[in-house]
Amino acid sequence: MSRIAILISGAHGRGSTLVNLAQACKDGRIPGSEVVGVIGTISSSPAIGRAKEISLSVSIVSPLKENYAERLLSKLNSLKPDLICLAGYMRRIPEQVLTEYRHKIVNIHPALLPSFGGQGMYGSNVHQAVFDYGVKVSGCTVHFIDSGYDTGPIILQQVVSIDDAKSPDEVGAKVLEAERIAYPEAVRLLCTGRVRVDGRRVEIEKAEEE
Ligand code: GRF
Repeated sequence: MSRIAILISGAHGRGSTLVNLAQACKDGRIPGSEVVGVIGTISSSPAIGRAKEISLSVSIVSPLKENYAERLLSKLNSLKPDLICLAGYMRRIPEQVLTEYRHKIVNIHPALLPSFGGQGMYGSNVHQAVFDYGVKVSGCTVHFIDSGYDTGPIILQQVVSIDDAKSPDEVGAKVLEAERIAYPEAVRLLCTGRVRVDGRRVEIEKAEEE
């Protein structure tokens, strides 16, 4: 059984990503896995509310108090996760946590990295920038976390055509549909041991039947 921990931050997340991952563990899209805990930074977040609604175990670790890195690491260690999935976590992951969980922390970014990423590029900012630039395709990127913003090795990308999108919201809606498929798929590959990392390059081993 693969144990998945989910990290979120701030008060603005909707929680749709964590719900999708939790459902994917239950409905067989990520076989042999379970979400063992959700860690947020603030209890009033709607995403934390969603996690409680679907009976996930929830903890709050506040970055505003001292020793955030140590407290976060200790909470994570208590969950014994095989994989940590960010689901709307906008902060840098503390160095201590990165060292302990090297190549075990992943995120989904709502654009095709390395374009439209970096500090400040989250949520509707991303789709606004994509729309304003006039690119014809966008999509999502599942990547490992390193010490930068959106800079870790790329595991999987899914492209969507946005040629006919009339607004940033339309771009966001199309990308969200792709995220719903791409994140569980990447987590499935990770949990079944089919992902090899070689520097920046990530290789996915083919399954025997493929
Ligand atoms: C997702 O769109 C994802 O791309 C990004 O954070 C967003 C979280 O959305 N990393 P939600 O709160 O899960 O709905």
